[in-house]
Amino acid sequence: MNLVTGGAGYIGSHFIKAFLDVFQDDNIIAVDNLTEGHASALSFSNRIHFEQEDIGNTEAMVRIFRKYDIKTIIHFAASCYVGDSQINPAKYFHNNCIQTLNMFKAMEICGIRQILFSSTCATYGNPQYLPLNEVHPQQPINVYGSTKLMTEQALRAYSIAQGWSYVALRYFNASGADESGIIGESHDPETHLIPLILKTALGKRKALQIFGNDYETPDGTCIRDYIHVNDLASAHIAALSYLRNHPRGESFNLGTTNGSSVLEVINMCKKVTGLDIPVEYVPKRPGDPPVLVANADKARELLGWKTSYDMQSIVQTAWHWEQNRRY
Ligand SMILES: NC(=O)c1ccc[n+]([C@@H]2O[C@H](COP(=O)([O-])OP(=O)(O)OC[C@H]3O[C@@H](n4cnc5c(N)ncnc54)[C@H](O)[C@@H]3O)[C@@H](O)[C@H]2O)c1
Repeated sequence: MNLVTGGAGYIGSHFIKAFLDVFQDDNIIAVDNLTEGHASALSFSNRIHFEQEDIGNTEAMVRIFRKYDIKTIIHFAASCYVGDSQINPAKYFHNNCIQTLNMFKAMEICGIRQILFSSTCATYGNPQYLPLNEVHPQQPINVYGSTKLMTEQALRAYSIAQGWSYVALRYFNASGADESGIIGESHDPETHLIPLILKTALGKRKALQIFGNDYETPDGTCIRDYIHVNDLASAHIAALSYLRNHPRGESFNLGTTNGSSVLEVINMCKKVTGLDIPVEYVPKRPGDPPVLVANADKARELLGWKTSYDMQSIVQTAWHWEQNRRY
């Protein structure tokens, strides 16, 4: 049986939906402490067995692993706000590193040796070349990125010492929502560009703040690689079978390589919504590189993965969710 940590969160819930759609006879276990997630994000199927628990509670995790005879972990649970991580480093090292190690202890006790891990492009730091591939040096410039790199290093150590097989998936900018409209992105506070633009379009925010317009990019605004959350979900499904056939550790970038600037994303949102989006230019944020885009050839070649969504469909699905959000 597979167990998803952080299953009530944005990407975890989309993975669960995609998994249950592909494997019609399977059930799945979701663990979440609901600090950030939403129980309603898991209410769409009775094949989801939800356990409200903190992954750092080793004893409880051992009980859950044994109860469901867990063989594989898909590990999404984490604290994920870059800005917050700079202000509250202890919270991030505790939740993302120590609590994860506490869960690894439970995995050891139960003999579980297969894990998919949600890593991030934030482990690379400032790009030395573009697009970023997996062998680019990992020199994170924020606490959040450091905690994810430390977890990758812990996985590497477990793989060498105890034969764990793991896949670290380094996502670029997750975006969009499931077409069904029953699950979507709901963070508080929201820090991601597309939901912020759409909230502005709906008049829930006065203006969209753009951090800097004199970057060395064609229109002066930052370029990022937006990847649809269901494309991330399909990569996890491909990685699950890769994990079972390749008993060691591997990492893959998940992105499209087609970067979009902040202004390009705003223009797409204007086109999809037909609404005006007031903007306000504010100073650059320290540590924001002008361009971050993925080279995802390795995932395409070794996982047989390809993306299905472009920027227009990312915005359309996010807009559908934003107008009818259930949580
Ligand atoms: N959203 C992105 O663009 C992005 C990019 C790169 C990597 N990631 C990684 O992907 C993963 C999922 O991100 P998301 O956007 O879905 O975040 P999210 O906050 O929506 O989901 C994370 C979930 O984990 C739960 N959680 C946190 N700590 C927990 C703990 N100790 N025990 C149990 N549950 C806990 C939260 O309640 C939440 O439901 C994270 O690991 C994040 O670092 C996200």
